[in-house]
Amino acid sequence: MTAKTNQDHVFYRNPTRFYPTAVRGEGIYIYDSEGKQYMDGSGGAVVVSIGHGVPEIREAMLKQAGLISFTHGSQFTTEPAIELADELIRMSPPEMNRVYYLSGGSEAVETAVKMARQYQVDRGRPSKYKVISRWTSYHGNTLGALALSGHTGRRKYYQPLMMHTPHIAPCYCYRCPFGLEPERCAVECADDLEKAILYEGPDSVSAFIAEPVVGATAGALVPRDGYFQRIREICDRHDVLLIIDEVMTGVGRTGRRFAMEHWNVSPDMIVCAKGLASGYTPIYCLIVREEIHRGIREGNGNFVHGHTYSQNPLSCSIALAVLRYLEKHDLVARCADMGRYLLEKLQGLLRHGIVGDVRGLGLFCGVELVKDRASKEPFDPKMRMNALIGNRAFEKGLITYPGGGGADGVRGDHILLAPPFIIKKEEIDRMVGILDASIGEIMKGKSL
Ligand SMILES: Cc1ncc(COP(=O)(O)O)c(C=O)c1O
Repeated sequence: MTAKTNQDHVFYRNPTRFYPTAVRGEGIYIYDSEGKQYMDGSGGAVVVSIGHGVPEIREAMLKQAGLISFTHGSQFTTEPAIELADELIRMSPPEMNRVYYLSGGSEAVETAVKMARQYQVDRGRPSKYKVISRWTSYHGNTLGALALSGHTGRRKYYQPLMMHTPHIAPCYCYRCPFGLEPERCAVECADDLEKAILYEGPDSVSAFIAEPVVGATAGALVPRDGYFQRIREICDRHDVLLIIDEVMTGVGRTGRRFAMEHWNVSPDMIVCAKGLASGYTPIYCLIVREEIHRGIREGNGNFVHGHTYSQNPLSCSIALAVLRYLEKHDLVARCADMGRYLLEKLQGLLRHGIVGDVRGLGLFCGVELVKDRASKEPFDPKMRMNALIGNRAFEKGLITYPGGGGADGVRGDHILLAPPFIIKKEEIDRMVGILDASIGEIMKGKSL
């Protein structure tokens, strides 16, 4: 018997699966056409921060749509674009001074790479072009962003189409790439960047890109304190730009406006962020230091780049309304508080033999699943443990964001949780309860 699938003309992400029809969202809940309620325990793919169906955002959309929805960035600026940039710069480290708008995360990552390259050429360093990234990372699915991503499973099909770029070890304490225990760690994984720069030749390296807390490929890998401070020193020593990919972590998700605030490190560029408009419209941006803007203005004079929908006033006005809503309701502080509570509750899952690690920062938490807790051996990916547990939770009305490949690019299972910042303690209890029951049921079914 073949599984039930959607019989319409949409090319779905997974055409072998059945997707319920979502018709309405309110707060942390989504409702389907059958009236079933789902708790949005992952904000989709770590997108929804202020919750679904907020009336103030609809008002802002309607107001701007009544004025003008689209202007092209080569022809006009608009008040929403100016005001949103002011607000973002106010939220960013003091060295940041300019905002370049985009409509997707992969597009924003590739824009950062191109901007870094043009800056290097325009300031008289034309030999600098390489961008170093890390294994166990995700920066997007377009070919340039995928080339930087360190996820073998996602890269495998497209390998012949991608340019080769250097990758270094991740900062993954649960599976330390250097086989060290925390007491013996001297942040060797950060020094791996220096080695790579020296091997590649500092004159050829334009930038280093990393997620502050790794999301999609490993389930909220929080770096140890000292890691990003060392990375910043290494970048400075070799005149390499530091690009921080805050697509998942930015705009409050880790309990700070930007995750790098946790370590007091200021990058050269911030790629920002799914949560910028909380899913109400596709808008991302690059926030950059004034030197970069000045370098390009005084060099070529024109950033040789551009996308049709970037800087559109409708998206800018929606993002502005979201930022104001976050501030008015003090939701970033709330995210920090609720995040501590979520992480504490998740510790209870360690009673299951297949839960190897729980970790997180703010409302950005991961549960790593292992076949054997003592050896940390991952499950055979063919078992699809992450999907089995994620699907069981979905049936029970909890949306999570399962992923894999953290252990070696192919093996390794995790469940990512990232609910909207408005979630209440009793809802966190229910969310963890559903996940707990789902893990228990799958273990029983597999006799684990
Ligand atoms: C850290 C990071 N960078 C980039 C991207 C790509 O964003 P998009 O899916 O909007 O292209 C993602 C998506 O999950 C991400 O997590």
